[in-house]
Amino acid sequence: MKHWQLSREENSIAIATLDRAGESANALSAEVMAELAEILNQFEQNPPAGLIIRSGKAAGFIAGADIDEFSQLDTPEKIRALVARGWDLFNRLAAVKYPTLALVRGHCLGGGLELALACRYLLVVDEAGTKLALPEVMLGIVPAWGGMLRLPERVGPAAALDMMLTGRSINAKRAKSMNLADDCVPPRVMEKAARQLLLSKQPRRPLPWLQKLQAGPLKKLVADGARKQVAKKARPQHYPAPYAIIDLWQDHGGNALAAPAVLERIFNSPTASNLLRVFRLQERLKGFGKESDFKASHVHIIGAGTMGGDVAAWCALRGLTVTLQDQDIARIAPALRRAHELFTKKLREPLRIRAAFDRLIPDPAGYGVARADVVIEAIFENLEAKHALFRAIEPRLKATALLASNTSSLRLEDLRTVLARPERLVGIHFFNPVAMMPLVEVVAAADADPAVVQDAAAFVRQIDKLPLPVNSAPGFLVNAVLAPYMLAAMRAVDDGVAPETVDESLLAFGMPMGPIELIDTVGLDIALAAGQQLTDATEAPRCLRERVDQNHLGKKTGQGFYRWSQGKAQKNPAGAAPEGLVEKLLEPLVDRAQQLVADGIVGDADLADAGVIFGTGFAPFSGGPLHWRTGTP
Ligand code: NAI
Repeated sequence: MKHWQLSREENSIAIATLDRAGESANALSAEVMAELAEILNQFEQNPPAGLIIRSGKAAGFIAGADIDEFSQLDTPEKIRALVARGWDLFNRLAAVKYPTLALVRGHCLGGGLELALACRYLLVVDEAGTKLALPEVMLGIVPAWGGMLRLPERVGPAAALDMMLTGRSINAKRAKSMNLADDCVPPRVMEKAARQLLLSKQPRRPLPWLQKLQAGPLKKLVADGARKQVAKKARPQHYPAPYAIIDLWQDHGGNALAAPAVLERIFNSPTASNLLRVFRLQERLKGFGKESDFKASHVHIIGAGTMGGDVAAWCALRGLTVTLQDQDIARIAPALRRAHELFTKKLREPLRIRAAFDRLIPDPAGYGVARADVVIEAIFENLEAKHALFRAIEPRLKATALLASNTSSLRLEDLRTVLARPERLVGIHFFNPVAMMPLVEVVAAADADPAVVQDAAAFVRQIDKLPLPVNSAPGFLVNAVLAPYMLAAMRAVDDGVAPETVDESLLAFGMPMGPIELIDTVGLDIALAAGQQLTDATEAPRCLRERVDQNHLGKKTGQGFYRWSQGKAQKNPAGAAPEGLVEKLLEPLVDRAQQLVADGIVGDADLADAGVIFGTGFAPFSGGPLHWRTGTP
């Protein structure tokens, strides 16, 4: 066999190790699955005492199906065959008489988890990289290889639907506590534990009575509740897959083959092909981080305000030692408070929260400058202040340290004039809120050292963000496309369209937030300044000027286009939108994106789409603004 290694131990336990040829991670390609079928065939004649399925890759267990095979699904027959391939094979695996066990270490995603669920036992290894998920919904499809059948059977319908509808991943300890895994063990005992559990004859823990009810008489109630939850986040016309998952679970026991029309509709939907495109774009952005092997262990951040404080917290969360500098300790304190909230939310366990907090060191005197591998400047947006700072810190930097600015609107070419080594300055432009926004623009100034830009991209990947290389220009990519879009939205308000109507039409198009609410969120003063810098409008919209004059600056003052209460915009019902409103509002955004590609600010149209999707949340199911304009589904 090409991809599996099969061995038998003295006690007749068989070990099937998946080590897909020529790849660094395992995926379930047609070949891999055909070979697994072959293994099961062999065992029909000569069954082992038990079978352990494991991975031979350091990267993890199995990352899912081979998505390259998805692009070839151009007929209903091919779709059906692909689904049947996994559904039938895993049913076969689930039905064998000898005990089976999936030994899961590292990522176990999609088809990989469906395979593991078809084993009698699932043993997870407690390591930071162990993550179990059914993320099919993020690709606009459904877990049709038995996930919709077996996950609810194992963990109960509520938890299963939550995982399948969000694509959320579960760590090893959580997998054990929610009964997804039979046990969770540290790496040093996994070999022994796997063999013991395999031969234990231990029965599956039955579902608690409430979950049994949810899978039986209360099924409709659970399904309706899940539909309501999904409806809050995704409209069926944009994202049909989560609705299909609920229907298939409720009406067909998770067997997608029993509902051919649904299957075809989902796998053939423009959403699925566009989300696959977005997935590939994401992989492409990740690739920019691989062009250098730069690795930081200590980051020093100067400016503990909105951005610097949150960037510091994020870096500490991701395992780096962080020193955080500001003018005095009192200005650092709020950032530490927010960091603690972030750690608590993301890490949950007290020891891990404590460890992250220990990595984040307030440093008002700036001792970290001399020791850091990366120094990020995030002080006031003021050229003189930044110059003074650069002058003071440059002589103290390590020779190899990366020096970055988070500036939104100042030119790197102007910022670096005071540096002895100007070519070392790079832009690392984060978005607000830092913890939520996946994109970071990596900005190359004119004649920048390409190696420095690659190091910056590697650093961005190290902290698990998506680097987008851009050339230096006002607003880079993301703010440059947002400014004319916001302007158009406010011009519509000047023309008498209610803010609610503007926002609702863009929400209906698939934006995560309407443009007017976005303006309220970023602040009307910021929007005014951005409009002056980033659009060619000679005059700001009336609706904006009037509000700024009254100091109605949006969310931060409690009043902007909307009144804000408890962090929420108070909206009236939207009215009917004038014909063509959405196209009229999106056109300036798409035009600008096209222009930035033509001007070489961003590498190509695909990268522009990636940047706008991951930097603004632009309707992912559309495949991105430029892709959307081409009219291809
Ligand atoms: P902020 O006003 O919230 O924080 C700036 C902090 O820098 C303050 O705490 C201030 O005390 C400190 N500071 C000023 N001069 C200093 C010095 N010489 N030494 C040490 N600390 C000093 O500002 P914000 O919004 O965090 O912006 C910081 C930078 O990030 C700016 O360049 C801005 O353009 C950029 N940016 C801002 C975004 C936003 O949404 N607020 C988004 C992306 C970038």
